Amino acid sequence: MNVAKKNTKEWSPDSWLNYPVQQLPEYTDKKLLKSVFKELKGYPPLVNSWEVEDLRDQLALAARGKAFLLQGGDCAEVFDNCNAPQTVNLLKVLLQMSFILIHEMNIPVIRVGRIAGQYAKPRSSPVEKVGSEEIPTYRGDLFNKYQQDLEARVTNPKRLLEGYKLSALTLNFIRSLTEGKGFANLNHPEYWELDFMRRNKYYKEYESMVKSITNAVRFVETITNDRIDAMRQVRIHTSHEALNLYYDSAQTIQVPHNKGWYNLSTHMPWLGNRTRDLDGAHVEYFRGIRNPVGVKVGPPFENEEVVKLLDKLNPDNVEGKVTLITRMGKDNVKKYLPGLIQTVKNSGHSVIWSCDPMHGNTYATEENLKTRSFNDILTEIKETFQVHREEGSFLGGVHLELTGDNVTECVGGANGLKAEGLKRNYKTFCDPRLNYQQSLEMAYLITKEWKATWNER
Ligand code: PEP
Ligand code: CO
Repeated sequence: MNVAKKNTKEWSPDSWLNYPVQQLPEYTDKKLLKSVFKELKGYPPLVNSWEVEDLRDQLALAARGKAFLLQGGDCAEVFDNCNAPQTVNLLKVLLQMSFILIHEMNIPVIRVGRIAGQYAKPRSSPVEKVGSEEIPTYRGDLFNKYQQDLEARVTNPKRLLEGYKLSALTLNFIRSLTEGKGFANLNHPEYWELDFMRRNKYYKEYESMVKSITNAVRFVETITNDRIDAMRQVRIHTSHEALNLYYDSAQTIQVPHNKGWYNLSTHMPWLGNRTRDLDGAHVEYFRGIRNPVGVKVGPPFENEEVVKLLDKLNPDNVEGKVTLITRMGKDNVKKYLPGLIQTVKNSGHSVIWSCDPMHGNTYATEENLKTRSFNDILTEIKETFQVHREEGSFLGGVHLELTGDNVTECVGGANGLKAEGLKRNYKTFCDPRLNYQQSLEMAYLITKEWKATWNER
């Protein structure tokens, strides 16, 4: 048990600039970048340090199996979709999923959206072929445009400002919904869809669970004698991959009443699987912030390297600080996860274990549409729960790409979506997401795995 020595090298929000950086293409217009960066630094923060501290405290409970983290949202938010229905639907599905989890698991659920800043994407190739021409790849709206032409794909610093402003609009709307009376409609289970579950063998159980949640909500409202107030304050936190470090570091500041530096563009930034290089710029940036952070871990990785990362990111071993989000792929869970859990355990580091069952299970259909199968996703979740059971640790959360809309991007689930049906409403700009129905069904099936864990103990 040895949690390593502190890294004493000087850190500042911009010290990452002295390190090799992945997935951040050169901005050709340096002058414009400089002025945009300065402007971004001058804007007020999107979240506050108390909310960030509060989230870390809640995550500390998840590290002990006393709360569960539900993190989800689009693979990539896009500027053009910054509108009310999109946000309402995502909040609705996250909220309803959290009610299912709370009802069945009897513990608090920490809701974290991939929202209000999830605009930057790591890519496997820097270029894309369009006809005979090669153009730079689309890296998310924070960098460039989706449109397949050379001009659209230029990395434009002004998009940092646009991303910041649209995140502010989104967050403002989230706050007005979750803190005001408007949200009452969304948390009422009579707005839930039930019918799609008819083809699921658990339909009866599911139906009675929704009834029970409805009764519980009514009960709380009745005893407080106010239909709206009792259920009004719903906490939803924000998260995004801190990939474009100009964006995140511009919003990293010190505040009067809490020590240290906070990334106040979001509550919980995460470090992607492709940017967790120990000596790289992203890790340098992440080691200096007080926010709770997510770290994606999937092949290829070395167990010891993950411990070194934890040493850097959390030298004081603060509980709730690091969420390790494993994304192995369904066939790799049994191969890699036991060793990782053992090595982390032996290091003495406290982490929240979360499972991203999406990114290791993507494949292309014959028609070259990226998809994921509901069953593969569920298999990764099941096996991850099982390995944690066997290793005597807890799975404290899940990380899902999902939407509250009726899209057709992942195959399977009770609604029986087949590969042929994917084109019907395939909307994602990056990876395939679970739709509203698939998300509710997944939440329900997750609770079954959780129960299996606790029944065995
Ligand atoms: C993502 O979460 O969108 C992502 C790119 O994941 P990963 O870093 O795990 O590949
Ligand atoms: Co993705």
